[in-house]
Order: sequence, then C-alpha cells, then structure tokens
Amino acid sequence: MNLLIMGLPGAGKGTQAEYLSTKYNLPHISTGDMLRVKIKEETRLGLEAKGHIESGNLVPDEVMIGIILDRFNKRDCKKGFLLDGFPRTKVQAEELDKMLKELNRTIDAVIYIEVGQEKVVQRITGRRICKGCGASYHVIFNPPAEIGVCNSCSGQLIQRSDDNEETVRKRIEVNAIQHQSLLEYYNGKGCLFTVNGSNPINKVFTDIETILNNLSRSAVL
Ligand code: AP5
Ligand code: MG
Ligand code: ZN
Repeated sequence: MNLLIMGLPGAGKGTQAEYLSTKYNLPHISTGDMLRVKIKEETRLGLEAKGHIESGNLVPDEVMIGIILDRFNKRDCKKGFLLDGFPRTKVQAEELDKMLKELNRTIDAVIYIEVGQEKVVQRITGRRICKGCGASYHVIFNPPAEIGVCNSCSGQLIQRSDDNEETVRKRIEVNAIQHQSLLEYYNGKGCLFTVNGSNPINKVFTDIETILNNLSRSAVL
C-alpha cells in the first residue's frame, strides 16, 4: 500500500502514522522527522533547514524532493510507504507522481485529517517529545504515565523548538495556503479521503482503518 497522510500542523499525522505503520507494516516516512535528524547531526542541509523550520516556513521544494528521492531508494520502501508531511506543495505532488510513475506505482489513498485551527494550536503547545526515542505525547490528551518521562524508554520529554505559539500560527497559515491546491489535486484523482481529526485518537484511527479496509476489499472484488 502507498499512502499519504495530510493535515495541518498538530492534526495528528505523526500519531496516526505510528499506529498505521505498525498495523500495515509500512515504513513511516515523516519529512519533518528526517529534517530534525539532519539538524541534530548538523549537516549542511540540516543547518539550512533549521532557519526555515524555526520561522514556521517551508523548506524549499528542491531540497525536499531530493530527500524523498533518496528515501525511496531504500529497500524498505519496496513493499509500500506511508508518507507524513510530503508533499506539501503542488510542485512536490507533481514530482512525487513522476517518481512513482518511474517505479510503476500509484498512490492508493490520501488521508486528510481535518481539524480546526484553534484546536491544533492547543494540541501543539501541549505536545511533548521524547528526547531518546522521539515518541510523542500530549500533556492533557495523551499524557505519559509519569510526568516528563517517556513510557517506552524512560527518556526526558521536551518541547520541539518550533512548537511555540508564534511559530505554530505561522506554520498553520503557511500550510493552510498550500492545502487548498493539494486537496483539489488529489480529489481530482479520486484518491482523497477525509477523516474528522477532532475526534479522540482511537476514533480517528478506526475511521482510517475503515477507509483502508474498504479500499482493499474493492481492490479484491
Ligand atoms: P512536521 O514535523 O511535519 O510538522 P507539522 O506538519 O507542523 O506537523 P506536526 O508534526 O507538528 O503535527 P502532526 O500532525 O504530526 O501532529 P501529532 O501527531 O504530533 O514538519 C516540521 C517542519 O519541517 C515544517 O514546518 C517545515 O518547515 C518542514 N517540512 C517538513 N516537511 C516539509 C515538506 N514536505 N516541504 C517543506 N517543508 C517541510 O499530534 C500533535 C499533538 O496532538 C500531540 O501531542 C498528540 O499527542 C496530540 N494529538 C494527536 N491526535 C490527537 C487527537 N485526535 N486528539 C487529541 N490530541 C491529539
Ligand atoms: Mg508530525
Ligand atoms: Zn522514549
């Protein structure tokens, strides 16, 4: 299965992608996570990306397309993939189609997690990330068993450097502008499915499962 997961910052892309990648055994490819690794490693690309990310802007298309091209060459993508946070512009979507055409593959479904702007601000400002394994929590909606400590690896929970309210509002504005043309693009291809992301995490997950199960059933019939 080749899947895309879309939504505003804080809509729950990463949260749902983690569950989905486990259930369907797909590599979770989050361009945001990949950029954060490059920043941590202080590569040239990471240093360039840092400025864009911390100001709430997008990293240039050519950089992102290069990152995805590299990633698709890895073995684990041969069985399918779950893209989180890519494409984010129409140029990226068109380039993705070209890459997939060369690989004789198509996108099976684009899952759009729809959540209102005020709600996502609340979600992002309450998000905490494990410094050790990257697991994501929320101080109210998805708290760890012990405050400030990761359930899986006992690592310290911290806030992402782009999760302050000012940057969050900018990220939302930038992404909302791009979403319109992306949603039209995928709707035109007949592969867009929208779920109500205001629901609790488990309900969003079962709604996505239903969509994917119906999809595989219609592929068999
Ligand atoms: P990225 O890391 O992708 O950030 P983002 O799009 O802003 O999205 P987030 O990761 O903040 O949110 P999410 O939807 O994953 O939500 P989560 O599941 O964590 O990208 C970062 C930056 O990199 C971009 O701003 C850009 O600069 C750059 N970049 C990346 N890709 C790019 C591209 N293709 N082109 C150009 N630039 C690019 O959930 C959020 C919180 O809410 C968590 O605390 C979670 O526990 C909680 N939560 C989740 N679901 C629910 C629910 N249903 N109910 C209650 N709480 C919930
Ligand atoms: Mg994310
Ligand atoms: Zn951890």
